[in-house]
Amino acid sequence: MIFRQKHLDGNAEPEGSVIISVSRSYKTFESEGPIASALFTQMDKFLVRGGRPLRGKIEIGGAKNSALPCLAATLLTAETVTLHNVPYVKDLITQRRLLEDLGATVLTPELRTHKVTANNVQLFEAPYHLVKTMRASVLALGPLLARFGQAKVSLPGGCAIGTRPIDLHLKAFEQLGATVSLESGDVVARAPKGRLVGTDISFEKVTVTGTENVMMAAALADGKTVIHNAAQEPEIEDLAELLNKMGARINGAGTPTMEIDGVEALGGAQHTIIPDRIETGTFIVAAAITGGELEVKGCNPDHIRAVIKELRAAGVDIEELNPSTLFVRQSSGGLKANDVTTEPHPLFPTDMQAQYMALMTQAKGTSKITETIFENRFMHASELIRMGADITISGNTATVRGPRHLTGAPILASDLRASASLVLAALCASGETLIDRVYHIDRGYETIVRKLRSIGADIERITDNLAAEEDEA
Ligand code: UD1
Repeated sequence: MIFRQKHLDGNAEPEGSVIISVSRSYKTFESEGPIASALFTQMDKFLVRGGRPLRGKIEIGGAKNSALPCLAATLLTAETVTLHNVPYVKDLITQRRLLEDLGATVLTPELRTHKVTANNVQLFEAPYHLVKTMRASVLALGPLLARFGQAKVSLPGGCAIGTRPIDLHLKAFEQLGATVSLESGDVVARAPKGRLVGTDISFEKVTVTGTENVMMAAALADGKTVIHNAAQEPEIEDLAELLNKMGARINGAGTPTMEIDGVEALGGAQHTIIPDRIETGTFIVAAAITGGELEVKGCNPDHIRAVIKELRAAGVDIEELNPSTLFVRQSSGGLKANDVTTEPHPLFPTDMQAQYMALMTQAKGTSKITETIFENRFMHASELIRMGADITISGNTATVRGPRHLTGAPILASDLRASASLVLAALCASGETLIDRVYHIDRGYETIVRKLRSIGADIERITDNLAAEEDEA
């Protein structure tokens, strides 16, 4: 039996400030209200009736991919680290659960503020049941190894977008003096004398979480570490800023070479997470693909220069009203085909590729989209084709011929950014689109239904009642 939970996200967002004053377990946090249950309902679907231009103002939340390593960094000290602007999304709830399972105390004085005190860490491992739901659990490795000289993290398997090994993280830990072995599917790392030793590390390939893991490990190592070919994403700079507030000595974050002078111990700090650049990009596309007009507030345009450049080339008018606000609409000439290739920052991010593909289905001409980061990140293409898009895939390049009229259909989300792409396509399609497996989108987009409804989208969350009852049994 299917029932509709009208305005679920809309009602779920707390009015004013909801005060959660004590640390709580995952289970009790789950029962915190409809939004929390929504985050954990695996069978939810979105029903979208497309064709309505989105208009109004939208506020961008904190960056998931920055909050994840910053929460992991709290394990580096026994003192309290307070993080503000932590987005309320499923991946962050999983990360909080990991910290609590390890023995840290997490207080939530406000919904998006986490105060973490890791002064009683008893366990040094991230178990399989957490790692399999969120690969970023591997970010516990660096801090645990650096502070306690030991760490065990279940080796992540492949996922929908590729094999995603962590060999580069492990090789770097070995270079810092750790012994690393694989035991029954777990990575077990030990620092023989309890401390890591600074060294030169050259990543063969740019890796975001690999760079973050090494930054956290090297912050507490003896001596100096130099990271060559480091990732330059804004999230790396944000983590470095937090670590430096905690007493680390990191220079060069945001450039390919980072120098880290290890310190004896780190202390407490307060830090506000940067805005989510991928959520920003997704809402820019939402305005453009529906022919609407949006003011995107609380963002940082400097973090998405490549996205802004390519979207402008594709016929999207993007005006910078002030350093944190963009005004977006389709240009009078309409959308036009424009090729993009995904690359590490500061070039076009792979996390915007799926949303860009949805946009190109509405652009005049043929565009080529080349994915160089992940080997299997075109899963959304087959669903877009079901809706009427003309897309062919050859190797790591998708050729999109547009514009094509999209029509609503039942479709399946395969990963986080693919789900965003499908929501965007559904918003401009005629008729009803039912998107299944939206738990992927709940991992990274906060109250997406509420936000889209607030700017005029006709979207609702549908819960499969029978499945939910079975889950509870
Ligand atoms: C992070 C982001 C993810 C984004 C990706 C690329 C987080 C939590 N996630 O993922 O949203 O899509 O960066 O911008 O921040 N690789 C190896 N060996 C390794 C590590 C990586 O071969 O040890 C390869 C990967 O398979 C991939 C490439 O390097 O082909 C880049 O991956 P990486 O930057 O590590 O991605 P994540 O950090 O997992």
